[in-house]
Amino acid sequence: MSEENLRDVGGEVLEEDLDVEGTLRPRRLSEFIGQPRVREQLELVLEGARRRGTPPDHILLSGPPGLGKTSLSMIVAAELGAAIRLTSGPALERAGDLAAMLSNLMPGDVLFIDEIHRIARPAEEMLYLAMEDFRVDVVVGKGPGATSIPLDIAPFTLVGATTRAGALTGPLRDRFGFTGHMEFYEPAELELVLRRAAAILEVDLRPDGAAEIARRSRGTPRIANRLLRRVRDFAEVRADGAVTLDVAREALAVYDVDELGLDRLDRAVLSALVKSFGGGPVGVSTLAVAVGEEPGTVEEVCEPYLVRAGMLARTPRGRVATAAAWGHLGVTPPPDVTGQTSQPLF
Ligand SMILES: Nc1ncnc2c1ncn2[C@@H]1O[C@H](COP(=O)(O)OP(=O)(O)OP(=O)(O)O)[C@@H](O)[C@H]1O
Ligand SMILES: [Mg+2]
Repeated sequence: MSEENLRDVGGEVLEEDLDVEGTLRPRRLSEFIGQPRVREQLELVLEGARRRGTPPDHILLSGPPGLGKTSLSMIVAAELGAAIRLTSGPALERAGDLAAMLSNLMPGDVLFIDEIHRIARPAEEMLYLAMEDFRVDVVVGKGPGATSIPLDIAPFTLVGATTRAGALTGPLRDRFGFTGHMEFYEPAELELVLRRAAAILEVDLRPDGAAEIARRSRGTPRIANRLLRRVRDFAEVRADGAVTLDVAREALAVYDVDELGLDRLDRAVLSALVKSFGGGPVGVSTLAVAVGEEPGTVEEVCEPYLVRAGMLARTPRGRVATAAAWGHLGVTPPPDVTGQTSQPLF
């Protein structure tokens, strides 16, 4: 099984998503569906800053892929009426790249760093000073003659996004005044996401069809929007265009999305865990090799939802399949699994 086959409608970001995501992205906080906690917290952070007339504290948004971190970052800038500069951790390999970016900021700008946990060390260290004192030290010259010149930069707000808050170093994490933890969405919230997307994309989405797609979207708006587009294809080619319950069911079967919304990679992980490793415990790298995936993908894309769905538990000794996982795969668990109460670690 190639990676492509496993991921066809799964959790990863596809080119096609990037094309439509622009159109489907909510623009204002009031348009942003779900995440009531983060939304309320953020509203306060932004309103407080607005009243004081100063840029808000630096903001970190963490959570699994596709839950709306990038959308929310852009909303922060929109709500502040500020310009946003976009970059990402992997793009900031050299500290010089970051210095250039920082020194070009205008007062009140929002600097968005996606995948901030992947920032290179020298750039990270430069960021400490910039976040704290709005200063950068520019090193001029090389070797023993090199001098560092402190340079003031405009007060700005850093918005960082990460799928792995745990991978951030302590000093970096501490410099954020607010961290928003994004949660998986409830089916009712995803129905709203779907209705909004259907209106924008002009899809004839019926309530029972919306409920079915929402239920099987792994708690993730990006996946909900993607499944909507695939079901629409099916509805237009094999039916009369209306996305009803029956159409949604038939279409999702074609695309290998199961009753719980697990895709092929999710099922491959569960199946390896249960059938090859007797239900675990097994280390995540071993599990990743067994399904031919990167450990990072298994850990950041698959596992959070499997844990949330009660199928997999992260224990200090490794990953363990719960009784529900055995049941879902239709395999009878050994007697000791039934009462399994390993606590998920998050
Ligand atoms: N709260 C929401 N309301 C409506 N649509 C949403 C919401 N959150 C996300 N979406 C949709 O999901 C898409 C993906 O969201 P976004 O790119 O913000 O996720 P992300 O958390 O940044 O993902 P990644 O970790 O992969 O970068 C958006 O383009 C938008 O269409
Ligand atoms: Mg993003």
